[in-house]
Amino acid sequence: MAKEKSTAKELEDLPGIGPASAEKLKAAGYDTIDKIAASAYSVLSEVAGINAEAAKKAIEAARQATTISFESGESILERRKSIGKISTGSKELNAMLGGGVETNGILEAYGKFASGKSQLGFQLSVNAHLPVGKGGLAGAVLFLDTEGTFRPERIESIAKASGLDPKKVLEEMFVVRCSTTEQQILTIERADKLIRENNIKLIVIDSLISLFRSEFIGRGALGERQQKLNSHIHKLQQLADNYNLVIYITNQVMDNPGILFGDPTTPVGGNIIAHAATTRLYMRKSKEDKRIVRLVDSPGLPEGECVIKITPDGIRD
Ligand SMILES: Nc1ncnc2c1ncn2[C@@H]1O[C@H](COP(=O)(O)OP(=O)(O)OP(=O)(O)O)[C@@H](O)[C@H]1O
Ligand SMILES: [Mg+2]
Repeated sequence: MAKEKSTAKELEDLPGIGPASAEKLKAAGYDTIDKIAASAYSVLSEVAGINAEAAKKAIEAARQATTISFESGESILERRKSIGKISTGSKELNAMLGGGVETNGILEAYGKFASGKSQLGFQLSVNAHLPVGKGGLAGAVLFLDTEGTFRPERIESIAKASGLDPKKVLEEMFVVRCSTTEQQILTIERADKLIRENNIKLIVIDSLISLFRSEFIGRGALGERQQKLNSHIHKLQQLADNYNLVIYITNQVMDNPGILFGDPTTPVGGNIIAHAATTRLYMRKSKEDKRIVRLVDSPGLPEGECVIKITPDGIRD
């Protein structure tokens, strides 16, 4: 049976997408046929308020209407020149990351308790406010606190030490205390407007997975958990790309009994997070205020290790 090739140009041309659904999609940042074509049906059905079958049909039609375009290496290089960087506060860690934490990507830090994951999140949240070229992106921050560990007092001290006005830094931090995955997912699904209107340059999720782990318990729930996590991360990557911003996520660890030699500590979340994070850092507690940071995975940087300090002023060498 030959299918007719879709020639949809506007969202409303897609089967099952009426004006109301199209509005919802646009508000969530799905404003082109290409973006629909690249979306997951579970996300689309949730965002547009249509059932899964209708979402699948709409995506299928969007894919048919999309002409796959190739981009030359040269034009990608040109586009990469617009990439910005946020300083971590440590020269050594910046150097290991190729100059700082890059926009358009997801940085993940995993490690045991008190290894410094949240502290790095606080430091990046302050530094995002610094001027471009001075370690920052002159932007605001969206901070999702899923563990109740956000401390404005800490932001104050780090901001002061960085020569910034703590009041202004806190004013330009949008903190959402999430206590359910629903809240966490919806905050990100609806972040487009907030990002555009407030020049948000950094999104922190501390931690990405804790709520997913406590809500989806047991083997039976694993599939659903991973599917939700997958579309959540997909949306995060989309925000990083669309708005040229940095995503910083923290992750928990577990002891992997399958590893007999070496460090058995592995990040939770499985392949979904492993593949989504552009760069992964493994943080370990060392003596006193020292922390060992290992660069585990990065598309263009060599693996490496460095030592940072957590001081009252923030992250330092
Ligand atoms: N004001 C401060 N001055 C100096 N060091 C501090 C200060 N506040 C926190 N720290 C250090 O940071 C550590 C906590 O690190 P952090 O909260 O980033 O851990 P984490 O990796 O997020 O752990 P968890 O998995 O429990 O969330 C403390 O143990 C302490 O050593
Ligand atoms: Mg923490």
